[in-house]
Amino acid sequence: MKYEETWNKVEEYITRKVIREPPYMKSALRRSVENGLPQISVPVAEGKLINIMAKAINAKRALEIGVLWGYGTMNIASAMGNDGIVTGLERSEKHAEIARQNIREAGLESRVDIRTGDAMESLIRMRDSREGLFDMIFIDADKAPYADYFRICLDLSHRGTIIFVDNMVWNGMVIESDSDDEDVKGIRRLYDELEKHDGIDATVIQSVGSKGYDGFAVIRVLRDTHK
Ligand SMILES: C[S@@+](CC[C@H](N)C(=O)[O-])C[C@H]1O[C@@H](n2cnc3c(N)ncnc32)[C@H](O)[C@@H]1O
Repeated sequence: MKYEETWNKVEEYITRKVIREPPYMKSALRRSVENGLPQISVPVAEGKLINIMAKAINAKRALEIGVLWGYGTMNIASAMGNDGIVTGLERSEKHAEIARQNIREAGLESRVDIRTGDAMESLIRMRDSREGLFDMIFIDADKAPYADYFRICLDLSHRGTIIFVDNMVWNGMVIESDSDDEDVKGIRRLYDELEKHDGIDATVIQSVGSKGYDGFAVIRVLRDTHK
């Protein structure tokens, strides 16, 4: 495609000129490749945005749904002090193990708690046991339950919580109203949820680059939503 080469070169340029990451990110990425993990973590520019947002809101308690090799997790954990904690939910034991190794190597293990199992089951347990509320939530796992994740995340939010959701454009397929793809349907259900909810401030930013054409939502919770 005509523009892809330009997008990739611009991404390389932005990454080289602007984005400063700790050296452990590169070795963590290398470990994920060597272990055959899918290369579907957020783009570097988005990882940095999450890191800056966590710093900006002084996040102390964060939740990530879908950890993979820990890139998003480390971006949030490294934005916090030693009193911060990121809870990461991950279905794959293998992904969780690689993430734990990466997080240990980065010296962030005291700030991260990775729980394996289905995210929805973990979320229900967290809500029902009143484990506490999160300052920042990053939703980035399977797409079909996106709206369910969002609703239960509201139960785990307080006024001012930032909810970041990846893959909100999904190669543009998100506008296909007659799609029978479960991922597309799941993402569209979240848009419907955002449309009708009056207790949030939200935007979706489109993005291009090495991870293709996609986008992410940034949502701010306006009122206490927990029960
Ligand atoms: C896109 S990757 C996450 C990338 C990560 N947030 C980052 O940017 O560094 C999605 C992850 O969600 C996990 N996942 C998918 N469905 C899940 C579920 N139902 N419960 C928990 N984890 C799930 C996958 O195993 C995968 O590791």
